[in-house]
Amino acid sequence: MSMATSNAAYPLKFNIISKCGTTAARTAKMQLPHATVDTPVFMPVGTKGSLKALTTDELSKLGCRIMLGNTYHLEILSSSGGLHGYMHWPHALLTDSGGFQMVSLSKLCNIDEGGVTFTSPYDGTELRLTPEESIRIQNGIGADIMMQLDDVVHSSTTGPRVKEAMERSIRWLDRCLAANARPTQQCLFPIVQGGLDSDLRIQSLDALASRDVAGFAIGGLSGGEAKSTFWRIVKLCTERLPAGKPRYLMGVGLPLDLVVCVALGVDMFDCVLPTRTARFGVALVPEGQLQLKKRQFETDLRPIDDRCSCPCCTGGYSRAYLATLLKEDGVTLGCSLLTAHNVAYMLNLMSEMRQSLVDGKFSEFVRHFFRLQYPNPT
Ligand code: GUN
Ligand code: ZN
Repeated sequence: MSMATSNAAYPLKFNIISKCGTTAARTAKMQLPHATVDTPVFMPVGTKGSLKALTTDELSKLGCRIMLGNTYHLEILSSSGGLHGYMHWPHALLTDSGGFQMVSLSKLCNIDEGGVTFTSPYDGTELRLTPEESIRIQNGIGADIMMQLDDVVHSSTTGPRVKEAMERSIRWLDRCLAANARPTQQCLFPIVQGGLDSDLRIQSLDALASRDVAGFAIGGLSGGEAKSTFWRIVKLCTERLPAGKPRYLMGVGLPLDLVVCVALGVDMFDCVLPTRTARFGVALVPEGQLQLKKRQFETDLRPIDDRCSCPCCTGGYSRAYLATLLKEDGVTLGCSLLTAHNVAYMLNLMSEMRQSLVDGKFSEFVRHFFRLQYPNPT
């Protein structure tokens, strides 16, 4: 097996610009084939090639330079010449391998050493995803960053199944690496597994760190485990991963977790939170969340956040108007405006963290963030 020190011609350069003096946070420029991405970065999730309520042009105007697509939903693309052109997205793309989506979408899912077999809840048809097939599809999609197919267990799982899934994920990683037909155009990230067990996480980390890869993902978290446990595992992982390569924490996007995990040395995040909560009428603001369907907003003529520069907040749309839209026939417009705001909030939060790191003021940023989110410390 080739070692991490080899000079592979990865389609990814990770140049660290500045490091925090007191935490493990850092800011970097990550050069990918379709964009240069400033990290720490939040990546919005586009299921079936869209963010549901936003056009790719609107997303680009918000400053987004990398988004997520899902392999499972995009199988058709392996024959249609790539996702960038298909969805009209000129910037960077990351695709997940599909297995996680299949497992989380269905109980009708069977895993063996060869791969994942999934029975559609709609029409009962069977789909089989192997490491080779996942990479074949992701090569067809053409994402800048692909993910290995992994064997994921829910973070509440205990016993021998956690070890089995972690070890199988390493074997599947090697099959994925061997299957990558475009290694100089698309990089492939391995995924650290091992549940909430430190020893299993360390075994996974040590195995992955000896592979010739451009960056690493941390998986198997964000399943409702206690914060202290979640953050302990993240810290264990970031401390053991190579310092000069990007670290991607999968499926995590609560603003509090973004700030804490950036401090622990994470560079990349994705989550459906800003887009999903928007569809439930929730606006993200520095003080927390506004449930716009509540009565109190029916007469509130202020914008969601007068410090926000998104098209919703600068476009003259009031909380009262949005509340009405969300309840009545204007749901579609309400969701679009709120999605734009929530994505802008996440991108801005990351941008503020990056700027504070450049300025050597990350600790001040963290204090300011907590003061706003938790105004009455007890
Ligand atoms: N998304 C969130 N967590 C995971 C994970 O552990 N594996 C994969 N493939 N995707 C994820
Ligand atoms: Zn806004």
